[in-house]
Amino acid sequence: MKIVEVDHPLVRHKLGLMRQADLSTKHFRELSGEIASLLTYEATRDLETEDTEVEGWAGPVTVQRIKGRKITVVPILRAGLGMLPGVLDMIPAAKVSVVGLQRDETTHQPTTYYEKLTGRMDERTAMIVDPMLATAGTLIATVDMLKAAGCKRIKGLFLVAAPEGLDRVIATHPDIEIYTASIDERLNENRYILPGLGDAGDRIFGTR
Ligand code: URA
Repeated sequence: MKIVEVDHPLVRHKLGLMRQADLSTKHFRELSGEIASLLTYEATRDLETEDTEVEGWAGPVTVQRIKGRKITVVPILRAGLGMLPGVLDMIPAAKVSVVGLQRDETTHQPTTYYEKLTGRMDERTAMIVDPMLATAGTLIATVDMLKAAGCKRIKGLFLVAAPEGLDRVIATHPDIEIYTASIDERLNENRYILPGLGDAGDRIFGTR
C-alpha cells in the first residue's frame, strides 16, 4: 500500500498554522484549500499524458494532455467540502461525486445517507477528500461504495491521519493510495486525532 506523508516546507508551515486553536474560520478554511491543492499536486504525479498537436504562435507544436477519462473527486460530507475548492483549483475539469455517511446509533457502523456518483466510475481515478483520517470507518465504507460502483483506482487525500486509521486501511483496502500532510501521534479516547486539528468540520464551517 502506498502512504505518502507529503514532506514539503509549504505543507509543514500551513499545517502548523492550522494547529493554532485561535485561528479564524476564514484562515482555517483558506489553509484547508491550500493544503488540499498541494496534496493534489503530489497525488496526480503519476497521471498518464499523451502527445497532441496544437497550433502555436510559430506553427504546429506537440504538447501533452492528460490521458483518459476525467478524475472524480469524492468529498465526504460535511468536512470534505472544505478541501474541495483546493482540489478543483488544480483539476478544474474533474467530476465531483458527493457522499454522506453517518454512524448508525445501534450498530456503530457508518451508513450512507447521500450518494451521488458520476458515471463511468470503472474508467476513472477516484480521489476521496476528507480532512481527518481518524478510525478510518468512513473511509473504508466510502471505498467499499466506490468499488461496488466499479472503481478500480482510488486515492485518498487527508490533512491529518492517525496511525490507527492507517493500519485499518492497510488491512482492509491495501490497494488504495493515501496522501496526507501529517501522520500524527494517536487517537484519544473520543477518537480525536492528537495533536490533530480538533473538529475539522466545525472549524471549516465556523460551527464550534
Ligand atoms: N474528525 C475530526 O474532525 N477530528 C478528529 O480529530 C477526528 C475526526
